Formats: sequence, structure tokens, C-alpha cells
Amino acid sequence: MMNTKEFAKTLGVALIHSETDANIDLAPYADLAPENVAFVERFHKSIPFYRPTPLVSLENLSKQLGVGGIYVKNESKRFEEFGLNAFKGMGGIFAVGQVICRQLGLDPETTTYEMLNTPEIREKTKDMVFITTTDGNHGRGVAWAAHQYGCKSYVYMPKGSAQSRVEAIKRVGAEDCIVTEMNYDDTVKLTAKLAAENGWHLVQDTAWEGYEEIPQLIVQGYTTLGHEAVEQMEAIGAGEPTHVFLQAGVGSLAGSLIGYYAHLLKNRPRFIIVEPTMVACFYNSAKIADGAPHGVESAENTIMAGLNCGEPSIGVWPVIRDLATDYIACDDDLTEDGMRLYANPTAGDEAIVSGESAAVGLGLVNRIMSKPELEDIRKAMGFDEHSRILLISTEGATDPVGYERVVGVKA
Ligand SMILES: Cc1ncc(COP(=O)(O)O)c(C=O)c1O
Repeated sequence: MMNTKEFAKTLGVALIHSETDANIDLAPYADLAPENVAFVERFHKSIPFYRPTPLVSLENLSKQLGVGGIYVKNESKRFEEFGLNAFKGMGGIFAVGQVICRQLGLDPETTTYEMLNTPEIREKTKDMVFITTTDGNHGRGVAWAAHQYGCKSYVYMPKGSAQSRVEAIKRVGAEDCIVTEMNYDDTVKLTAKLAAENGWHLVQDTAWEGYEEIPQLIVQGYTTLGHEAVEQMEAIGAGEPTHVFLQAGVGSLAGSLIGYYAHLLKNRPRFIIVEPTMVACFYNSAKIADGAPHGVESAENTIMAGLNCGEPSIGVWPVIRDLATDYIACDDDLTEDGMRLYANPTAGDEAIVSGESAAVGLGLVNRIMSKPELEDIRKAMGFDEHSRILLISTEGATDPVGYERVVGVKA
């Protein structure tokens, strides 16, 4: 990031705007180049129950707000028949498949889903155990994926996790889902220790020194979702996005789409990282601007549970640092606005069930475009009637009680 400028918090929104180098060498992110992730998409497409999730155009809202278009990838429909309700299964099914390939010495680039599910292979993998820590969606994705391959999984959750999320993880096939008395980071340490002691496979979506390979597989696993979105925009004549909102927890989703789109798109869009104010670690890192990632400590909470991560993943930090143009830290009411707006859209637009960690982008677009007080932010981000905004609604009502509290009706 270069020449950053901070816009102090106004109406719940703080922004750091940074100039990025248009001619930057993308070689360090080559593992997200289309030619190097083509095998990821091939793998996803070999899954008999794989289908792209819908892309919804909020045409009437975009007219009302004075932008060219708002396009929403509805990830609550991902592998819908399994009730996953979030995008995370894309990373889980790919990464677990890759771990199995490595374990059995199969070619990771050419092995298909069906090749991993023959009776002979399942006989060999039935005792493989996967373990992970999660605040919800990632663990559900890993447990589901392990179950699809006939393997076992244990999922650990930090203190205070919603019971509905525990049940949802058990429903998709985890052997057990255990809520600890520890915070997220200490729970990760526990699962890493259990994996090492028992010869189990740790599948985390965040990387740290010495644990980088599997998180990067998950990052690669999300690129298929990114490809779907641009193909769908193209198919409806919307062209390429000019603005991509990416809500970040550890940043794996954001890093994936930024690295992939930087290679793929003819004109690089603005990449906007969005975080809850209380755990805005990418925002904090952009503010310090010394090139290194800086976590934040916070005892407080946010309703955006999937974004409640205080440490950037070191695997995606460089690509985000070098290519993200804007960092937003915002309060919970922004995502509450977004959830209600998705549920009760402008007349003529399609309604979407969007959860706490999914809806924040829409809440932001709505507030930034409609409030005179936010004109400076609007200008800095280059919004006008030609803007084509891509939002990823990453989950549905994964916490049904929370959803009803905010939206006023059951999902
Ligand atoms: C619904 C939802 N959206 C977004 C994210 C953020 O993804 P990442 O942690 O890769 O930044 C998460 C992570 O758990 C999530 O569950």
C-alpha cells in the first residue's frame, strides 16, 4: 500500500484509502493466476452436485442509489441440498480432496472427485481424521467435506459459540463438535496439538509461520466462486466489476478473489476490504503501513461472527497489502441495515437471505451512496453512475435466532 489517507469514522464508517501500483508485478501471486487454478475449477466441476450459486442483480436499488449496478453472489445457496448455508464448502471440499491426494500419492491436478470416491479409495481413507477450529462456517465446510469422502472429522469452537452452529456442524457429519473454554486463537493451538499427537489432518483457513500449505489450498478453492461471478456478470451484459467488496475475517476469501481478479480482469477493480470496527486487523495494518501485518486485541464482540478474527492470515496478507485499494472498519449497524435491505428489497428486486457476516457490503453501499455526510468517502472510492459493484453475500441465516432479531422475521 502506498500513500494512504484515513477518513475518520463518520456514521459508523471509517476508511483508509490507499493508492496501489497499477503496474505491480503479479508474479508473487502466481498461484492465483487463472492458468494455475484451472485445475481447482476442474475439480469442483467434477463434483456431481456442484452448481454455480446465483448472481442477483439489484437493478432497482442501484438506480435509486445512482450507481451502474449492484450484483450479489448468493452463497447461501452453495451446495444447498446439504444445508451448508455459506461459501466455505468450496474451500473445504477442495482442500480435503487435495490432502487425500497427497496422502495416497495421487496426482492433485488430475484426480477428480469421483476418483476419490471409488470403493477402493474410500476403503483407504475411511480412517483419515480431519480436525479444525472454527467460529462456524469453516468448520461446517470441513466436516461436510470430510463426510463426503467417507472420512472422520472433529470440530472445535471457541467459548460462547452459538448452539445452533454446533448442531449445524454435527448435522453435516462431524464425529463431534466441541465448544472449548478458550478464545479462538487458543482453540486453534489446541487443535494443532491434537492433530500432531494423533496423526490427524489439521485443516485451518488461516496460515501462520510453518503452517501455510493447507490454508493456501483453501484460498485457491475460493477462486472458482470468483470465476462464476465474473462469468455471470458477463452473461447478463454487466461487464467487469469496478468495485469488489470483500468482508474479511482472516482474509482468505478476500486474498483469493483479489489475487485471482488481478490476473483475470482487463481493468483492475477497486478491492475494498471490510471489517468490524472492533477487530479491524487489515485496517490496522493499512494504518500502520510498514508492510507487515498487525493484529488487534479485542475483548469485545461483533455480531459479524465470521469476521471476528484479530489476526490477518500471513498467507494472504501480501496480496491484500499490495492490491487492496480501500479498507473499511464499520459498526454492526451497517450489517444490520444490509440484512434488512436484502430481506426487504426495493420493489422489483429479488429478496436474499443474508446473514451477519454477509450483508455488510450492501449496508455500506447504501449508506455511502445515500448520506451527504459521506460524500468525501464516496468520492475517494470513485463511486458514480457507472460503478458496477460486486458483493458476495457469503452466508444465509447461519444463526437463525440472530437473524430474526435483526430482520424481524424468520429466515
Ligand atoms: C459468512 C462469512 N463471510 C466471510 C468470512 C470471511 O472469510 P475469511 O475468514 O476468509 O476472511 C467468513 C469467515 O468465517 C464467513 O463465515
